[in-house]
Amino acid sequence: MTSPDRIAVTSVLAAIADPETGRPLTDTGQVVSTEVGAGRIAVVIGLTSHSAILHAATRARIEEMLRARFPTVADVAVTIAPHERAPMKLGQIGLEAKSVIAVGSGKGGVGKSTIAASIAIGLARAGSKVGLLDADVYGPSVPHLLGLSGRPQIEEGKIIPPRLELPGAPVAMPTMSIGYLVPPGEAVVWRGPMLHGAITQMLRDTAWGPLDYLIIDMPPGTGDIALTLSQVLPLTGAVIVCTPQDVALLDATKAIAMFRKVNIPVLGMVENMSVFVCPDTGKRYDIFGTGGARRTAQELEIPFLGEVPIQIPIREHGDAGTTAANYDDPAARPYLESICQRLVGNLAAAHAVRPPLPSLPVL
Ligand SMILES: Nc1ncnc2c1ncn2[C@@H]1O[C@H](COP(=O)(O)OP(=O)(O)O)[C@@H](O)[C@H]1O
Ligand SMILES: [Mg+2]
Repeated sequence: MTSPDRIAVTSVLAAIADPETGRPLTDTGQVVSTEVGAGRIAVVIGLTSHSAILHAATRARIEEMLRARFPTVADVAVTIAPHERAPMKLGQIGLEAKSVIAVGSGKGGVGKSTIAASIAIGLARAGSKVGLLDADVYGPSVPHLLGLSGRPQIEEGKIIPPRLELPGAPVAMPTMSIGYLVPPGEAVVWRGPMLHGAITQMLRDTAWGPLDYLIIDMPPGTGDIALTLSQVLPLTGAVIVCTPQDVALLDATKAIAMFRKVNIPVLGMVENMSVFVCPDTGKRYDIFGTGGARRTAQELEIPFLGEVPIQIPIREHGDAGTTAANYDDPAARPYLESICQRLVGNLAAAHAVRPPLPSLPVL
């Protein structure tokens, strides 16, 4: 059995990856302090706000590994402290963000906007700095889903985005949508250069502030917007949402091909409306089938991020503009949270094998 000394404790910490970069905690200057005494080990670990949703799990894992290595030590205390690592400016537009994630699907109505908003809300409530961009210029629904409205103000040439207050969020979450700028229905006629201009402007001219994540709600189908995005800034990757239905899966497969064509890596797949569990009887109904997205993800060698059942409150919250309240619903929260956790965990794992987003010169 190893007796606890500083070197032995450090060797345990060296086997644990920083949940942002995937690199050993000991390589990234994140071990703030190590105290080793008779019957007591106390370590303080610095973690970034980017990995906020994984802080509790990381802390539990460090504690478990220390206890396993030093079973005779009665008192093992692991404390998480904030560790700052600022985002870089991305692309020619100079957006400050660490991860830019597009949420897409092949088909409308599969719950893409609901999932995009829920990922943004989940990460923000955990303590990450998150922005949400509604790139669905044909059918913007973020303002409605979040209950936000009103024309954004312009200050010093920047658009001041409407913000959503969320418990746990370090700052209220900035959101941008064409829905704030033009009357409903008007954007539909836009084509090519106008679309490109609108998306670029919302990315470049919005006062997002420094972000851990920019989550982008994509329009269904065509690749125009994906192409524009890929030209304007480096995207970390895309999350594909689909229902378990065969037709939706076929469309999702096309969406994956579309993202791959413009060199946007696919980060994973979410199965929405996977099952309906009757609240009265507890009986399961596979309305659109079930498990199809998981199988398709396996076939296409894409990570499966999780599923969200059909739940009447999710639809009701969407209609009422209270999508954020899905996180107060014990029936919905675990599904949404586990999707966020898997997504962030996969990002760290991917960072460990390939460097994070390149920083391009700001023009
Ligand atoms: N898991 C779910 N359970 C119940 N209703 C859902 C679920 N996901 C989405 N919805 C509802 O389905 C409709 C379409 O969702 P939306 O997110 O706007 O889809 P999309 O962006 O793909 O067109 C909305 O009314 C939304 O509230
Ligand atoms: Mg939508």
